[in-house]
Formats: sequence, structure tokens, C-alpha cells
Amino acid sequence: MSARFDLSAWSTEALERVERALSGWVAPEQAAAPEADSGWAVLGHEAPAALREAMRYAVLDGGKRLRPLLVLAARQAIATGESPSVTAALDDAALRAACAAELIHAYSLVHDDMPCMDNDVLRRGKPTVHVRFGEAQALLAGDALQALAFELITSEQSGAPATVQSSLCRQLARAAGYDGMAGGQAIDLASIGLALSEEQLRGMHRLKTGALLCGSVMMGATCRDPARACSNAVLQGLAGYGAALGLAFQVVDDILDVTADSATLGKTAGKDAAQDKPTYVSVLGLARSQAYAQELLAQALAALDSTDLPDTRALRALADMVVNRSS
Ligand code: IPE
Ligand code: IPE
Ligand code: MG
Ligand code: MG
Ligand code: MG
Repeated sequence: MSARFDLSAWSTEALERVERALSGWVAPEQAAAPEADSGWAVLGHEAPAALREAMRYAVLDGGKRLRPLLVLAARQAIATGESPSVTAALDDAALRAACAAELIHAYSLVHDDMPCMDNDVLRRGKPTVHVRFGEAQALLAGDALQALAFELITSEQSGAPATVQSSLCRQLARAAGYDGMAGGQAIDLASIGLALSEEQLRGMHRLKTGALLCGSVMMGATCRDPARACSNAVLQGLAGYGAALGLAFQVVDDILDVTADSATLGKTAGKDAAQDKPTYVSVLGLARSQAYAQELLAQALAALDSTDLPDTRALRALADMVVNRSS
């Protein structure tokens, strides 16, 4: 593989696909007319336009789209050498999984920002969903985005094998739920004002943020031909990469909360300390947190090397971006 990899060009191409797909799948403005015998016709009307607007507002036009990029980068890494006859269906499954990961993430942000959680007014450079649409719509938009995520990866339009679809479903559910993001968020709220040990903090971050990031990597890796063997070493290496990167991501989020300003972040800076949240900065201090993020980057890259996959350029570049980003 060439030493130079143009992440910006790769991301631009990948993001074009993701943005187009999200815009078409998230409560599209012109929903197809309900079929005469469908449940919709029985119900007689669509959900209020405000819910559709809130869903699209929460997802479209913003965010780094890191989770979709990880899905697509892992799919690229695992695809080398597969039969061209399966490529289109698996690429489509990966695009669906990429969008599904972003939908779960977007829903988690909508709820994270609500007054009952972090009570934030700014997200992705715009007023938060509950500020713009009210708390009830924000709650429902989050619920509907989560449901849509699972619909996308199990759609009858997907040509991916049923085993791939069910595996994607299971991984996304795990990453989003009690053993993942939701569980981590519960720990986060229960930890306000507490002096967590480094180990407790790591456990919280692994769940609330790491699970979905690692899950995104593993969902991309799941979009492979089930007829072809994939060694445990490859899957373990990718999981090690995802775990280190997932933790590094939240360490850097904690750092940026202290070092960056709101305009750069598109969300309110300095709120972790204001809300007395235990973070890597509060537990380790800024310099040790920065050193730890670099250590995690090295761990992620070493795990990737252990897979011997021929094309991990995008995954490598994304890990570097996660740790050395400024927003
Ligand atoms: C913010 O995630 C919330 C955390 C999990 C720390 P991102 O920094 O990925 O947010 P967007 O998607 O770019 O807005
Ligand atoms: C949120 O963590 C993680 C989620 C699961 C949404 P934070 O509360 O630190 O995220 P920001 O800083 O508001 O984006
Ligand atoms: Mg939070
Ligand atoms: Mg928050
Ligand atoms: Mg934060």
C-alpha cells in the first residue's frame, strides 16, 4: 500500500454517499403515498410534520459522521479479495449500517442534550432539538431515530444475507443498550460530583461512547461474505482497534471541553466542569490526558497491524484524526 493516503478525498466520497442516503431515508419530505391496505391507511394520517422536521434537524447538516466513516472504512478493509458477485449487496449493507450508527448517535445526542440529562442549548452549531421543537418532540425524535436505525439494516430492500443482517442488528442493539451507550449514560448521570477512579472512568467512557464507535468498526467488518472464512485474529484485531479508538475519542472529547471554544466545537465548551462531571481531565489532568490519548492511538494502530489486512489505510487515518482533531 502507498505510504500516503488522502483521508480528505476518501471522506468526501464516503460522506457524499452517507449524506445522500440519510437525506433519502430519514423521514423524507415526500413520503410515498400510503398503500390502500397498509396500516397507515387504517391509521388515516401521518405523524405530525413537527416530528419529521425534528428528526431531520437532528441528523442532517452537521456532525463529523465519524461512526459512518468507521463502518465504511472497516468494510473497505474486510472487502479485499471477495467475489465481485457479493460486493454490491455488502456495500449496500455497509451503507445502511453506516447510516444506522449515525441515527443511534444522533438520537443519543438529542436525549443527552435534554434538560433531564446535560441540559445543553447548542449542538452542531445550532440550537438543540428540544430548544427548537420542545421536549416532547425531542424525546419522540430520538425514539423514532433509534427505531429507524434498526429498520434500515433489516430492510427488505437490503440484498445482504440474512445472517449479516441479523448480526448487524445484534451488534447495534448491544452497542446502543444497557451494555453500551444507554448504560454508560446512566453511569455518567450517576457520577455527577463523584471522584471516580481511573478504572471507573474508563468503564463509563467505554460504554457511553466507546461501544458505538467499536460497534461501528465491527459492523463494517460484519459486511463480508459469510461464505469466506475470517480468522479470529482479524476480528480481535479490529475489536482491539475499535476499543482503543472508542476510548481515545471520549478522552479527546473531555480534553476539548476544556481547551476549545464553543464556536469551534459547535457545542457549549467548559460544561463538564460546570456540571461537576468526572472526566479524564478532572481525574488525570490535561497533560496526562493528552499523553493517554496518544498512547491509545498507538494501541489502536498496533491492533490494526496485528490483523495483517491489506488495506487499513482509512482506519489508520481515522484513528489519527480522532486523536489529533481540534473539534
Ligand atoms: C459527541 O460526539 C458526543 C460524544 C460521544 C462525545 P461527536 O463529537 O462525534 O459529535 P458529532 O457527531 O461530530 O456532532
Ligand atoms: C455524550 O457524552 C455521549 C453520548 C452518548 C451522547 P457527552 O455528554 O460528553 O457529549 P457532549 O460533550 O455533550 O457532546
Ligand atoms: Mg452527557
Ligand atoms: Mg453532553
Ligand atoms: Mg463531552
